[in-house]
Amino acid sequence: MTDATAAAALTLHNALDGDESRTLAEDVRQGLARPFKELPPKHLYDTRGAELFEQICELPEYYPTRLERSILERVAADVIAATAAGELVELGSGSAAKTRLLLDAMAAAGTLRRFVAVDVTEQAVRDSATELIQEYPGLEVHGLIGDFERHLDYLPPAREPRLLAFLGGTIGNFPPAARLRFLTAVAELLRPADHLLIGTDLVKDRAVLEAAYDDSAGVTAAFNLNILHVLNRELGANFDPQSFTHVARFDEDEEWIEMRLRSDRAQTVALPAIAMDVSFAEGEELRTEVSAKFTRERVAVELEAAGLELLAWYTDPSDWFALSLARRA
Ligand code: SAH
Ligand code: TRP
Repeated sequence: MTDATAAAALTLHNALDGDESRTLAEDVRQGLARPFKELPPKHLYDTRGAELFEQICELPEYYPTRLERSILERVAADVIAATAAGELVELGSGSAAKTRLLLDAMAAAGTLRRFVAVDVTEQAVRDSATELIQEYPGLEVHGLIGDFERHLDYLPPAREPRLLAFLGGTIGNFPPAARLRFLTAVAELLRPADHLLIGTDLVKDRAVLEAAYDDSAGVTAAFNLNILHVLNRELGANFDPQSFTHVARFDEDEEWIEMRLRSDRAQTVALPAIAMDVSFAEGEELRTEVSAKFTRERVAVELEAAGLELLAWYTDPSDWFALSLARRA
């Protein structure tokens, strides 16, 4: 395909349009002023964070990516047969590595028309969109650089039966109230011919879970600590990342992994861009992410609460990870 043809098939829209740093500033101002400090996880994914996440996906301890891929390899054709999808919209698409399995199934079924990638990481949207244009001749690709909690209005109108994919267990990274809000917004987006495919990590042995979020090579620790580098760069802060330790713990009552950064000593950090000084006691922990682990019942109940109906449940042989196919109830 010539470059001119490729360019014609690719459109990009940046919904962040310079307001990203303002959101970061607000998130940090609120999150660090709480008695129990926390930061929203989307700020983990700058260009460096996205690279580190790709490395996490290759780690022996991090099983979700491999299992979700194996499930997709097995069921992608069934999903496409059941949905007759002509366009795939992926929220939090990242490098869109597993997405190809769905695009291949759509191509094989002869329905493949368009792919829409939505991610906060501009580089990830640009790179994956450019690659997919080359790999799938005739495919239209639309990249939306934006926040899937705030910018779903910027999605182009559906022209074909649409499959909305939310892979990687990213749904688990919302706190419960935000998850219901998000799923409800997604449900409202679906027309009768559209479907949702959603990946969830499942409850399992604590040691397996904790190893997946605290690998022996220290990649997950570097990924978690990267958020402090983001704050230093974007807000002129003076965090010393070496004085914080990565912590990953499974909370059995909440059924989620919590990622935290523990201050190794008492210290005060300056954040000049938001005129804020933040003190940490020795051993004080800052929460950077939760990763909820599900059961089939919990997925069905939460989908129903959002106005969605679970149509099919696909797991790997060990029942460690699941893909759910749903539509508007
Ligand atoms: N779907 C890929 C990547 C999962 S990692 C996979 O399964 O491997 C989560 C992805 O969601 C990252 O690419 C991150 O940049 C993106 N993301 C996180 N929060 C987001 C938000 N609020 N809006 C849009 N994208 C977000
Ligand atoms: N969606 C991924 C998950 O919950 C994100 C993730 C994987 C992650 N490893 C991490 C987030 C480590 C923070 C730190 O599995």
